[in-house]
Order: sequence, then C-alpha cells, then structure tokens
Amino acid sequence: MIDVGAPDFMLGVVGAGAMGSGIAQVALTGGLAVILTDANAAQLDKARTALFARIDRLAEKRELKPELAAATKARLTLTRDLGALAPCSVVVEAIVEDLEVKRKLFRTLEEVVGEDTILASNTSSIPIAAIAAACRHRRRVAGMHFFNPVPLMRLVEVIASADTDPAVVEVLTELGQRMGRTPVTVKDAPGFLVNFGGRAYYQEALHILQESVATPEDIDLVMRECCGFRMGPFELLDLTGMDVNYPASEIVLKGYGYDPRVKTTPLHASMHLAGRLGRKTGHGFYRYDAEGRKLSGPPAPLPSATKPAHVILPEPHEGLVALAVAAGVEAQAPDDGASPIVVAAWGEDCTAAALRLGLDPRRTVAVDLSHDTSKRITQMMAPSGDAASGDAVAAMFATAGRAVTRIKDSPGFIAQRITAMVANIGCEMAQMGLASPGDIDKAMQLGLNYPLGPLGFAEKMGVRTTYEIMRQLFGITGSDRYRPSLWLRRRALLGLPAATPE
Ligand code: NAI
Repeated sequence: MIDVGAPDFMLGVVGAGAMGSGIAQVALTGGLAVILTDANAAQLDKARTALFARIDRLAEKRELKPELAAATKARLTLTRDLGALAPCSVVVEAIVEDLEVKRKLFRTLEEVVGEDTILASNTSSIPIAAIAAACRHRRRVAGMHFFNPVPLMRLVEVIASADTDPAVVEVLTELGQRMGRTPVTVKDAPGFLVNFGGRAYYQEALHILQESVATPEDIDLVMRECCGFRMGPFELLDLTGMDVNYPASEIVLKGYGYDPRVKTTPLHASMHLAGRLGRKTGHGFYRYDAEGRKLSGPPAPLPSATKPAHVILPEPHEGLVALAVAAGVEAQAPDDGASPIVVAAWGEDCTAAALRLGLDPRRTVAVDLSHDTSKRITQMMAPSGDAASGDAVAAMFATAGRAVTRIKDSPGFIAQRITAMVANIGCEMAQMGLASPGDIDKAMQLGLNYPLGPLGFAEKMGVRTTYEIMRQLFGITGSDRYRPSLWLRRRALLGLPAATPE
C-alpha cells in the first residue's frame, strides 16, 4: 500500500494548465514533492512563474509560514519529459478533455511508471472506465476530480470505476486530505456527483422560464432571498457560460439515457447556438457592461392597491395568520363572497388548490410559505383570477414589510419546484449509491456553494412535504421529469429522515 506520508512520496501531475497547476499548488503547500509535466514548454514556464508568485503571496498573507516558502518551491520539479515521472507513486492527469488523447497518455504512463503507481484523471466528463479500458492494469486507474479554482475549492471527488481497487480509493482519499481538500468517494457515473446533481437547480429554473411562469430576475431573487442561495440560477448560468453548462447538460442527459429529470430546455440550446454565452460575451440571461457589471433595471413596481379589510383563510395556516395580523388585516374563515381568499399551496397550482377546497378560483391567491418569508413572498392566481384580489393581497404583504413576487399559476411556485427537484435528484443519487447520503450533501455544498445539500433541503422542508410537492408536480404535469425518487417516497411514507441508509 502506498504511504502518502512517506518522505520519498512523489506526486506526478501531467498538464500545467489551470487545473494542473492548481493541483500542484495544493500538493506543494500540503508538504508533498511534485513533478509537473506539460507537452508545452512555454506553459511550464508560465506555470512556474504563477506558482512561485502564489506561494510568495501565501507567505505574505501568513497562510504559509514564510520560512517554508523556499522549501515549498524547492519541492517542485517542472519538465517536458514524461520519463521523469518514473519515481512517482501517484500521477494525476489534467490535460485536454479528449478521450483518445487521454488514453494515449495513460498507455505511455504505464510504460514509464512502476506497476503499483496509481494513475488518476481529473476529467470532468469522461467515464473513468473509458480511460482505464486503454490500460494494462485497470485496477490502478481512478478519477480525482478537483474543482476550479483548485486552491479555493475544497472538494475533490475520488471516482472509482467498476475495476478500481478499493485500496487505490483509500490512497487517493488520503492524498486529497494531505492537499487540504475534502475528498468524497463517488461512483463512475455521468457527471459523477456534483456535475450531475447540479443540473437540477438551473434546469428547473429554465423550465419555469420556458413555461412563462416568471422572469429570470424573479427566479433569481426568490432563490437568493427565500432559499439562501448565494447566486440565482440565471446568474450562475451566465457566470459558468452557456458554452460550458449546455454541453455538460447534454453529456449528463445522454449518459442517463435521456431521462427527462435531467433535461434542459430549447432556450438553453438556442442561447448556446447563438453565442449568447453569459458574462464572457457580455450578454446571457442578463446584459453586462465592459467592467462586468450586470445591467438590469429595478423590478417593475407593483400596482398601487390598498390592503383588504378582510382575507378569507379557508385553511388557517399559522404563517398566513401571522402575516395578516402583521398587516392589520382581519383573517376570517367563512367566505363573505367578496374578500380575497388566501391559501398556502404545497406542490399544487392555484387552480388545483382552489378546486380541491371548493373555493371561488377568481378570488383565490396561492402563497408559498415553504422557505424564508421574512423578506419576500411569492403569490400566484389561477387564469382569469380577479386582479383586484391579487393586488389587495400583495398590498397586505407589502404592509407586513414583505417584497412580493407575483408569478403565473404553476405547481410548486418557484422555490418549492426548484428545491424539491434538487432534493429529488439528491435522493436519486443516494438510491443509486453514487455516494453516501452524508457525502452527497457535503459534495453539493462544497462543490456548488449551496446553503444546504439536497437531503438537507428535503429535511428542512420536511421529507413528507418534499415528497408531496414532487407527487403533485408529477400528477399535475403528467411528466416523468417529476416522478418522485423511490428513496424519497419510502422515507416519506415511513416517516424517516431523508439520509436514512437502506
Ligand atoms: P488547460 O487547457 O488550462 O490545460 C491543459 C494543459 O495540458 C495545457 O497546458 C496543455 O499544454 C497540456 N496538454 C495537453 N495535452 C497534453 C499531453 N498530451 N501531454 C502533456 N500535456 C498536455 O485545461 P484545464 O482547464 O486545466 O483542464 C484540464 C483537465 O481538467 C481537463 O480534463 C478538464 O476537463 C478538467 N477539469 C477542468 C475544470 C475547469 O474548470 N477548467 C474543472 C475540473 C476538471
């Protein structure tokens, strides 16, 4: 078994681009000796200059003991010669994302290194099995998937293909820890863990947009202010760029046999085709100025209306009662035939909720109480809803100090739909055994900056409620996209926590 802590442990890194030099940096600062190779000599010079400057900067900021800076630099060897990797116990590949080029490199590496040397790929989309298939000793091949920028992103996915030796996973996990990362073990599946799970957030937002339920601005505001995401889905799409996230969506979709759960929308495809890539082209879902500042006006003002004297609460949810009280509006149960009717809907659209409760659909306003409602509240009405009722309820919430987002009728509003989809995909990952439930949440939080992992979201909304939202979405739309994960269903029916193992 390879000892990562041994004084003669040597790490090889092939590819001195953005990822390879980041991987070399965290290995060096973790106290390891590194041989960094690249086919391109100019790239090696660039990497040396950048790495040394970053080590100096860390020492200046005292994130690295200044007296260790010289020794840290001295542990780095840069060379174009692949043969120099012969003494390495582990080699991490971070070259161009091309299967044939990677296969050729792995075959060459097998000629160079010892039989026990571990060969790991940093690929973000190529199955590890496809690379290992080119090797004589497949048991030593695994994935070691870092995130960009490596020094700032703590997560590393250690990917085991069907042939990978469990001891290889152990060594790479320890290696990741030595590099100051948080490793999670993941199965060799399309998009691995984070690039698969990450589809739910922005793809569901794209579906909401496609259905003309809400604008990108509305969706981003709700996801930030009510659900605690640092960036809204459209801000995120613009940041990563349609040239990156659209092809990644296609790879995951194809890999999962065109499962509608991971399907994107025609608008995403056409933005990619049109070159409306996001921040990098100054225009994506938003426009940006030359300095990269988002150009968007303030949200359209709400129509001025006065709060109602009464609202009818056919199901007096305590959150709704509290909001009415805060606005100084009297909440009553019997319908007076004229006042707005307010219901908290869970997975239903306003149409379904009004009809189920036998309410007048023209005066019924559905409200989303699933997440934080201290700043913003989302409301919706059925088609042909009475605008005055909607305006009056919005005025009531405004009086209670809440911003109001008004959307078209949609099962699950914005927040419920998106977080339930994130949770449902997370449950499906647990069902497939892609990683342990704890690692699924850890990886999604560290890899994507989510405020909670997918199972954490199910827990926060309530496992039963999350299941109910999915069940309603599935029933109302009739789309397989919304079929509840069996992992979620069983735990909801049994009253168990979302992370309960099989
Ligand atoms: P890059 O283009 O910045 O660097 C690739 C480097 O590999 C270049 O310096 C190039 O000269 C060198 N190279 C290409 N073919 C070579 C060969 N046959 N032998 C030796 N050197 C060779 O690319 P980047 O962004 O660093 O990506 C590298 C790998 O990491 C890819 O597989 C990519 O999918 C993966 N990855 C990239 C992430 C990102 O956000 N950029 C995130 C996670 C993984």
